[in-house]
Amino acid sequence: MADTIGGSRGTVSATEFAEAGLHLDVGGGLATITLNRPERRNAMTFATWSALAEIGAGLPPDVRVVVLRGAGPSFSAGVDLRMFQPEGVPGQGSFPALARLDDAEFDQMIAAAQEGFTWLRRPDVVSVAAVQGHAIGAGFQLALACDLRVLAADARLCMKEPTLGLVPDLTGTKPLVDAVGYARALEICLTGRVVGAEEARELGLAELVVPGDGLTEAVRDLCAALLATDRDTATATKRLLQGAAGRTLTEQAACERREQVARMKALFGAGRPGA
Ligand code: CAA
Repeated sequence: MADTIGGSRGTVSATEFAEAGLHLDVGGGLATITLNRPERRNAMTFATWSALAEIGAGLPPDVRVVVLRGAGPSFSAGVDLRMFQPEGVPGQGSFPALARLDDAEFDQMIAAAQEGFTWLRRPDVVSVAAVQGHAIGAGFQLALACDLRVLAADARLCMKEPTLGLVPDLTGTKPLVDAVGYARALEICLTGRVVGAEEARELGLAELVVPGDGLTEAVRDLCAALLATDRDTATATKRLLQGAAGRTLTEQAACERREQVARMKALFGAGRPGA
């Protein structure tokens, strides 16, 4: 367990992570972030998202794989529903109070929350969501923020925000559309229906579905395989694949050449260790 983690926003202690409903373990190139409020089905608040952003900003440089998991029966039941009440969550405010902010201030708050999600796609780490039970709203979006998703057979994904009069705003809409296409994404969001694990795999929302008691082991095996690949090679490959959809074939081919020249020089060129 990392007692503290230092990021661009300062140093965060294990106690502060705990108060935000998170637990962090770092070791062997792996960071495991546990959503750790099982008695509330790992419901999240702005403090959770801020702590996630801190973890991203202060990630030790040897971490290459990040696992997001939930304690207890659910991955996450999404935002803490007390936020919808005027009294809100102690120390966290409430949506009715936030709605009184001016637009720029409110935009900034959401942008800060989104930072808890976006770093999970940075090229030098691979992020894996290990999902059991419910992943609702912000919980579904957190799973979508990860590069890879391993689902237990009982996983139940639900984009509930439109049912509550809100849009999904924690960076989930793009990976959802990228994975399932516009029409299916629209149907999933506007109906607020549950997508089970098998359907999620068929739709490309899960790389792997395993029996519930096999989730930890399956994620452990996946992480070991990811960690076995050379870091610089993994980073370059992720960069290539991430940009592929936005490039023409000609542009992508040029990027492949550029990355390969750098790899070959690192592996075989003058100046490499032992050359
Ligand atoms: N916020 C706060 N508390 C929650 C919670 C949430 N999102 N979800 C569950 N809990 C609490 C329950 O109130 C309950 O507390 P008590 O024991 O004190 O009564 C405890 O967690 C256990 O919940 P359940 O008994 O309901 O557990 P379950 O296993 O039968 O059901 C569940 C699990 C299907 C996730 C159900 O709890 C549920 O539907 N929760 C609400 C989900 C939801 O609507 N989330 C908001 C989505 S929108 C979003 O996330 C994005 C946004 O920004 C708006």
